[in-house]
Amino acid sequence: MAVAVCLLAAICMMAARPRNKPPARVGVPIERAISMPAEVARLLDRGCRDCHSKETKWPWYSRIPPASWMMANDVEKGRMAMNLSDWPASRPWKAAGALLAACAAVQSGRMPLRGYMLLHRESRWSEPEKKAFCEWANGESRRLLVNNQLTTNKESEK
Ligand code: HEC
Repeated sequence: MAVAVCLLAAICMMAARPRNKPPARVGVPIERAISMPAEVARLLDRGCRDCHSKETKWPWYSRIPPASWMMANDVEKGRMAMNLSDWPASRPWKAAGALLAACAAVQSGRMPLRGYMLLHRESRWSEPEKKAFCEWANGESRRLLVNNQLTTNKESEK
């Protein structure tokens, strides 16, 4: 009995021992990494968050095939391309690139996806809204790049 308990304890300790893996790069919600005006936060909520975050609001028809498959696919790909819940705060180059890409995607009309805009009228951004978003995104990406440049000498390979 005592032997069995000892063995079990040893196995548990081995299982709990931290492995020698490099730490995973964990992102943070974008609103914790970058300050954004309320208008920008609202625009992201209205137009992008359903596909580009972990806070997807699934409508009732998202349970019925084939809509369910299409939507799951869009959300999976969308989260891979840019995840607002998993923002690369520790990688300023990547974050800056994502902001520039977001502005470009909106300005070119690629995003939000057309099918989504048909079903979610509120996701359409007016021209002034697109402009406000891009001004913010471009400004923030510039700031990230400049700050990063100033610190790269000290903290290279970050
Ligand atoms: C209906 C889901 C959906 C919505 C809503 C949506 N996206 Fe996307 N987004 C995607 C998918 C899917 C991809 C992957 C592109 C591909 O595979 O063609 C993507 C890709 C992107 C990319 C990567 C670069 C590119 O152009 O492919 C950016 C940046 C982006 N989206 C920004 C946005 C922004 C900003 C919004 C809000 C205005 C938005 N998206 C709304 C689904 C969505």
